[in-house]
Amino acid sequence: MSTESVAVEDLTLEDAAAELERLAKALAHHDALYHGKDAPEISDADYDALKRRNEEIEARFPELIRADSPSRKVGAAPSAIFQQITHARPMLSLDNVFSDDDVRDFISSVYRFLGLLPDNSIAFTAEPKIDGLSMSLRYESGRLVSAATRGDGTTGENVTANIRTIKEIPQTLPSDAPAVVEVRGEVYMAKGDFLALNEQMAAEGKQTYVNPRNTAAGSLRQLDPTITASRKLKFFAYAWGEISEMPADTQFGMVEVFKSWGFPVNPLMQRLSSIEAILEHYNDIGLKRPDLDYDIDGVVYKVDRLDLQQRLGFRSRSPRWATAHKFPAEQAFTTVENIDIQVGRTGALTPVARLTPVTVGGVVVTNATLHNADYIEGIGNSGERIREEGHDIRIGDTVIVQRAGDVIPQVLDVVMEKRPATAERYQFPKICPVCGSHAVRERNEKTGKLDSVTRCTGGFVCRAQAVEHLKHFVSRNAFDIEGLGSKQIDFFFEAEDPALSIKTAPDIFTLEKRQSGSPLTKLENIDGFGKVSVRKLYDAINDRRQVALHRLIYALGIRHVGETTAKLLARSYGSYAAFSEAMKAAADTTSEAWSDLNTIDGIGEVVARAIVEFYKEPRNIDVVSRLLEQVTPLDAEAPVSSSSPVAGKTVVFTGSLEKMTRDEAKAMAERLGAKVAGSVSKKTDLLVAGPGAGSKLEKARELGVETTDEDGWFVLIGG
Ligand code: IVH
Repeated sequence: MSTESVAVEDLTLEDAAAELERLAKALAHHDALYHGKDAPEISDADYDALKRRNEEIEARFPELIRADSPSRKVGAAPSAIFQQITHARPMLSLDNVFSDDDVRDFISSVYRFLGLLPDNSIAFTAEPKIDGLSMSLRYESGRLVSAATRGDGTTGENVTANIRTIKEIPQTLPSDAPAVVEVRGEVYMAKGDFLALNEQMAAEGKQTYVNPRNTAAGSLRQLDPTITASRKLKFFAYAWGEISEMPADTQFGMVEVFKSWGFPVNPLMQRLSSIEAILEHYNDIGLKRPDLDYDIDGVVYKVDRLDLQQRLGFRSRSPRWATAHKFPAEQAFTTVENIDIQVGRTGALTPVARLTPVTVGGVVVTNATLHNADYIEGIGNSGERIREEGHDIRIGDTVIVQRAGDVIPQVLDVVMEKRPATAERYQFPKICPVCGSHAVRERNEKTGKLDSVTRCTGGFVCRAQAVEHLKHFVSRNAFDIEGLGSKQIDFFFEAEDPALSIKTAPDIFTLEKRQSGSPLTKLENIDGFGKVSVRKLYDAINDRRQVALHRLIYALGIRHVGETTAKLLARSYGSYAAFSEAMKAAADTTSEAWSDLNTIDGIGEVVARAIVEFYKEPRNIDVVSRLLEQVTPLDAEAPVSSSSPVAGKTVVFTGSLEKMTRDEAKAMAERLGAKVAGSVSKKTDLLVAGPGAGSKLEKARELGVETTDEDGWFVLIGG
């Protein structure tokens, strides 16, 4: 029975739950129509009324807020209702490779890192990459105690109750299993079960699902485990997190142990050593792909020996000992309806092709990036002709688009026979379409060549740059403010009312204080916001008044300073005060501060210059100082292994190392909490010199820096 006309105060719990379900569906339906650019079925006012009703009911019955609630759709992940679990060991992702040559490079890089000749002596496991959701299952004393999604890799959602409904996942382990063990793997939905579910949904007149992966994710995010139980999810075990005692010393052996404990493991996993055998297995799995009852999107290769995995270690987000060899991208024909220009945070003008919607590999594609002016012309980054014959792309063209994994769709080629006679060459804008400032292509100082990027020169004047800057500031790896998504930032940036306006990052933190005025300008009275979501937003903002130093540095949006560089800077300088002072001093390129900055291993001159330029701009200094009135950066965390004898020390390696490769030495030192520098200075604590060491050794002696050889290094670190 419909309850739309019943006042919220008079709704019963059951009616409220049923109505929230109806509203979620209705709003999702209207969202789809609206975003799909079809004619919307209802007016904006009616749409807003539905949204408001939803929020009012949620405000009265917060316990009924659904995982798929429309109030959570914008910016806020549905995660808020599941408790968070911090992974005992981070859940990392994999690097992707696409060609046989990439695989050869991966394998050579493993040998090179370990200082071995590529003689097929290292075995790799090769197994399908399951297109599902990764899951970490924690067992203590043989009992399943928690199950967490990957989340951002550090913390995930606690979905234990739902995972317990998956029959394939053991609730208990045999008595010989370690006291603590986290088994990791992929939860997925079989293709057959997906099709059957969709048939049933269609028969019931309900919305059908797009693909098994999304359905599996949706099924796990149910607040009601009985729904998850009805969805027949499955699992493959292939990795592990914390484990109190290792039951095997190879990847292959570990998976066999999982199998003996009752976990499903993938039958197509093999252990292989030669590149030929590895590529053959890849092709073989590719041929079997259509007949498998689960979606896969590639083959994962992992170094088999765990001691070698240990030596190879990790880059910032992925292991050096593994990679995913993706299957070729899927392609389709469609037409370019228009070319729009987007202006990014750094002023880059990126052309985007608006396409007639087309399904590529189960996903509807409506946009494809065209990268830059050259790309549209048919010229690649090194001046080479791209696409079959270097055809340019024109509005009206029929094109082949391709989608590979999660990457943005690409225009692969133009079908020249179908080019309309009227189609004209695309004229790349010479002024920024957002602020009207000149848009220019810079010349690369080193090569003298024109840069491929056309950049708006408007800087802070350009609204697009300012808005994108704010979006970057609140993004996941920066301040990570939940509830401040793209839509909300647009809204606050456009708001002219001083009680609501957010133009620069510090304004985010004064929003709540500025809200004391008239009820008309109160956020909670504005369409799209409700009391509950506004409170949550303020809480999320206040939660970030203390922030890790590297997040702050990354959030500043300095050119060329990504997350990894930000972490490097945070670790090198320790505190924000030390960092900013040093960067201001480094403006003088004869100063010690400038040479120190350039000595940090991993910071090149381009990055160093960009940071110094940032600190020369008074506007930046002003924004940062206003920001620091609102937030407190936490000093960089102590090195990972503070007990090691080299923790916190600055080490330089020189000469030819014989017992480890340079990369391995660096990774090892960093694992032990040391900083690795590229050149010797007064700040160097230790120089490790192999045979043939020259000027660096001399300089270290001159400066009285402690030196040792490779053996001395191993004695020192106790290895
Ligand atoms: S190994 C440290 N093996 O791929 C790396 N991952 O792109 C641990 N995945 O988040 C992952 N099948 O969700 C591994 N056989 C497989 C996999 C697999 C699918 C997923 C997993 C991971 C993502 C990385």
